[in-house]
Parts: sequence; structure tokens; C-alpha cells
Amino acid sequence: MAGLRKDFISDYDGLADQWWDPRGALAPLGWIARARSDFVPAADHGRATLLDVACGGGLFGPYAVGKGYRTVGVDLSELSLREALRHGFDEVVRADVADLPFDGAAFDVVTAGQCLEHVPDPYAVVAEACRVLRPGGTLVVDTIADTRVARFVSITLAENVPIAGRPPRGTHDHRLFVNRERLTRVAREHGVDLRLIGLRPRLREMAGYAVGRLDEVRMVRTRSTAVLFLGVGTKK
Ligand SMILES: C[S@@+](CC[C@H](N)C(=O)[O-])C[C@H]1O[C@@H](n2cnc3c(N)ncnc32)[C@H](O)[C@@H]1O
Repeated sequence: MAGLRKDFISDYDGLADQWWDPRGALAPLGWIARARSDFVPAADHGRATLLDVACGGGLFGPYAVGKGYRTVGVDLSELSLREALRHGFDEVVRADVADLPFDGAAFDVVTAGQCLEHVPDPYAVVAEACRVLRPGGTLVVDTIADTRVARFVSITLAENVPIAGRPPRGTHDHRLFVNRERLTRVAREHGVDLRLIGLRPRLREMAGYAVGRLDEVRMVRTRSTAVLFLGVGTKK
């Protein structure tokens, strides 16, 4: 896609010391990881393995391990992968999520949190995620919808209002935001019927966080999937 920034991954290398800072630039990713964990079933056999696509600094690691999974992460940011290894991941692989270096049907669960809105072809990434998921396994993705309201909330507000947890300007490029119909169609073509659920932060807790009274904000489900949404499904 013309005009996309090429240095995006080095941004995450540069932010690697902030993954686990509850008031740092990546803090909201931790809130979303917690919400995502509600959609991941507990491991149902001793060698169950979860792949976290674009795992970043491993914010999902403690949840995956807590549910009994051997946990594997893929990301391009070397420094972030080191953090993931320190937070419960059993194995990390430096690779492009559009070309996952794993056999088909290798994983019991595949998660891809806040990843699709950062790649040039999110639908190819979803196809890859479905490919490496075993029949009967669970796919959980969460991302940002390609709507005007999402652009306003995720860029105009989130990247500019000066409170803790604010991502650096330029973190998001609205041209990469994800089309929900196309996402569900591609997942279905690859064997996974996705159910979409909207997510938003609890507004009271957000206010408490903004004034420094709280260190975490819980996410709640919303009917609207027009901003932040999660898709969950089982592979046929
Ligand atoms: C917003 S962070 C989300 C990290 C993690 N999933 C979470 O929710 O905390 C996006 C991550 O995607 C990674 N990433 C972006 N493009 C990628 C690509 N093509 N292949 C692998 N990782 C990529 C970045 O390095 C970064 O760690």
C-alpha cells in the first residue's frame, strides 16, 4: 500500500521497555489482552499449544499459561520477543505473520490481538491463522474496524489526548483498519465462522485511570463492532 511507514517494527523495538508498564504507551493492550482471555477455552489435553500471532511483549502470555497452554509467539520485533519469553511464552519465533513458519493444523488455539490493523494484508494473515489452526480449535482475533468513528476514536482521540496509556502519534494508520465483512468472509472460506463482538473500556474506570486513581481499565462488551471488535470461532 503506497505511503505506509516502513519503520513500524523498529517503533515496537523502541517501545519494548513499555510493554509491561501499566501507565506506559502500550498499557491499553494489556486491558484488551485480559478481555481476549475470556474467549480462550481452557486447554483440554496435556500438550495443547496456543500460537499468539504478533505476540509483541507477551501481554497474553500469563493468560495463555493460566489456561494450561504451551505458548508460542510470533513477531518481527526482536526486543519485544525477548520480553515475551520473560512473561510465560515457551517459544518465540521471529517471522512475518503473513507467512507463518508452521505446519497446517499445528495449534489448538490461535490468537491475533491488535495485529491485523498493523499489516498491509490482514486477510492474508487471517487465512494463515486459520491454516495453522487444527480442526476443532479456536481462533480469537481482535482489531479495529474500518469506520469513520474508529478513525476518530483510535487516532484523533487516542493518539492525541494527553493521558497515560496514550500510544505514540502514528501508531495507527486508518488505511489498515479492517473490514468486518471481508474478515468474516475470509475466515469462513478458511473453515472458521467468526462471531463478532464489540469491546470498549469501562468509562468510569477510564476516568479513574486518567486521573491516576486506577492502574488498569476493564473492557466491556458492546453491541456495536464499529470501533474495537473481537472475532471468535471454531475451525470446522
Ligand atoms: C499493537 S502490537 C500488539 C501486540 C500483542 N498482540 C498485544 O496485543 O499486546 C502489534 C504487534 O504486531 C507486530 N507486527 C506488526 N507487523 C508484523 C508482521 N508483519 N509480522 C510480525 N509481527 C508484526 C509488532 O511488532 C507488534 O508487536
